[in-house]
Amino acid sequence: MLWKEKYADRICSAAEAVSHIKSGDRVAVAHACSEPVILTDAMVEIAERMDWKDVEIVHMVAMGKAGYCEPDMAKHFRHNGLFLGGSTRKAIAEGRGDFTPVYFSETPKLFRTELHPDVVLLQVSEPDEHGYCSLGVSCDYTKACAETADLKIAQVNANMPRVHGDNFIHISRLDYIIAENTPLIELPPPVVGEVQKKIGENIASLVEDRDCLQLGIGAIPDAVLLFLKGKKDLGIHSEMFSDGVVELIEAGVITNRYKQIDKGQCVATFLMGTDRLYRFVDDNPAVKLMPVDVVNDPRVICRNDNVVSINSCVEVDLMGQVASESVGLKQISGVGGQVDFVRGANMSKGGRTIMAMPAAAAGGTISKIVPLLTEGAAVTTPRCDVDYVVTEYGIAKLHGKTLRERARRLIGIAAPEFRDMLEEEYRKRFLVS
Ligand code: COA
Repeated sequence: MLWKEKYADRICSAAEAVSHIKSGDRVAVAHACSEPVILTDAMVEIAERMDWKDVEIVHMVAMGKAGYCEPDMAKHFRHNGLFLGGSTRKAIAEGRGDFTPVYFSETPKLFRTELHPDVVLLQVSEPDEHGYCSLGVSCDYTKACAETADLKIAQVNANMPRVHGDNFIHISRLDYIIAENTPLIELPPPVVGEVQKKIGENIASLVEDRDCLQLGIGAIPDAVLLFLKGKKDLGIHSEMFSDGVVELIEAGVITNRYKQIDKGQCVATFLMGTDRLYRFVDDNPAVKLMPVDVVNDPRVICRNDNVVSINSCVEVDLMGQVASESVGLKQISGVGGQVDFVRGANMSKGGRTIMAMPAAAAGGTISKIVPLLTEGAAVTTPRCDVDYVVTEYGIAKLHGKTLRERARRLIGIAAPEFRDMLEEEYRKRFLVS
C-alpha cells in the first residue's frame, strides 16, 4: 500500500506514540465508538513510567473502560467530561474529575478556543488512493480536534468504516500512526421491555408519514422504531443513529425522499451500534456524517419540515421543566444534543418535540414526574421549549398550556401510585379546595 511506504517513518507502536504526551497536556479523545482503545490503554499503561502530572483527558461519551479515571491514576490524569457515562461518572462524583456543561453543537468551537487540545487520539479508516482517511463513525467534535490539536496520533484501522460526508482527514496530517485492525467498540441493541414498548407505541402515534426524525440513545428510541414499521417515507437528520435505523431503511420505511435538505441521505454526526451498522454505513452514499456544529445547529435542523425530536430525561416537574442530565447535584450524563434538537424541531415547519421516559425510576420506587426538580438539578430543557411528554401511561401536550393545565396533564401520565402525592401538591399550588 502506497501510504504505508510514504508514511512508514510515522508508523510506531501505541506505547511509543503516546509517550509524546507531556505533563500538563490537554488530550482530546475521539468520541464514543471511535475511541482508539489501544491508545487510551497504552496511555494508562505507561503513565507510571512517564511520571506524568496533570494530564487532562477531555471527551464526551466514553464507551471504553476509561482506565485514566481509576483512583490509582489520579496522580497522573484528571478527566474533564463534557458528557458522563457509566465508566466516568464515579470519578466525577468522587472528586477525581470535572464536568463542563456545553451544548453538543458548541463543542467544535470550544475545542478551537478555550479547550484547545495539545494532543488528539483518533481512530480512522485506511486511506483511499488519494491518502484520505475517513473519521469513520464519529465526526462530531472529533473532526475539530483532528484539525486543531498540536499533536495528532491515530490508529489506522481497516475495520473502521469509510463513512461519507465532511468526515475525512489526509494521512499527511497525522503525526504518529498505529496500523492495527482491532474490532470497533460496539453498542449492543438495548433490551426493550414492556414499559419501553408502551412508550414506543405512544410516541409512534405522534409520528406521521414523511416526518424527519431525531432519535436519542437507548431503549426508548429503539422501541419507537418497532412501531414505525407501518409508516412511509420517513427521514433521518439525527445527532446519532444505531442498528434500528438500518432495519427501517432495508424495509423501505426510511427513504429520506421528502427531506428539504440532504434528500435521499441519512444525516448524523456520530454512529453507535454493532458490526451490522458499521458494515451498512461503509462507503454508503446514502449516509452522511457532518461535524456537530452543522448537524446540531438549530438553524440547519429546521431547514427540514416536520422534524420530530425524540429524547429522554431524568425528571419533569409539574411546570414542564425537564432535567435530563443530573439527579439533584449528581451529574449522570450531559445536555448532549437535546436542546439543539428541541430548538431545531420547534423552529421546523410542522415540527414536534417529544420527551419520553418511564413514569418511575429505581424499580418503580421514584416518580419521574415531580412537584419540584430535585434540589440542585440542572434544568436541561426549559419549560417554554417543551411540548409533548410521554410515559407508558400516555401523552401530555404542554406547549401553549397554562401552568395549571400542564400540571393536570402531567399528573395524568404519572405512575398511578404517585398520583395522590402529585394531586395534593396540585391542590396546594393552585388553591383548589
Ligand atoms: N431519580 C433517581 N435516579 C434516576 C432518575 C430519577 N428521577 N431517573 C433516572 N435515574 C437513574 C436510573 O435509575 C439509572 O441509574 P443506574 O445507572 O444506577 O441504574 C440512571 O439514572 C440512568 O437512567 P436510565 O433510565 O437507565 O438512563 P437511559 O440510559 O435511559 O438515559 C438519560 C436517560 C436521560 C440519562 C439520557 O437520555 C440522557 O443522558 N439524556 C440527556 C442527553 C440527550 O438527550 N441527548 C440527546 C440524545 S443523543
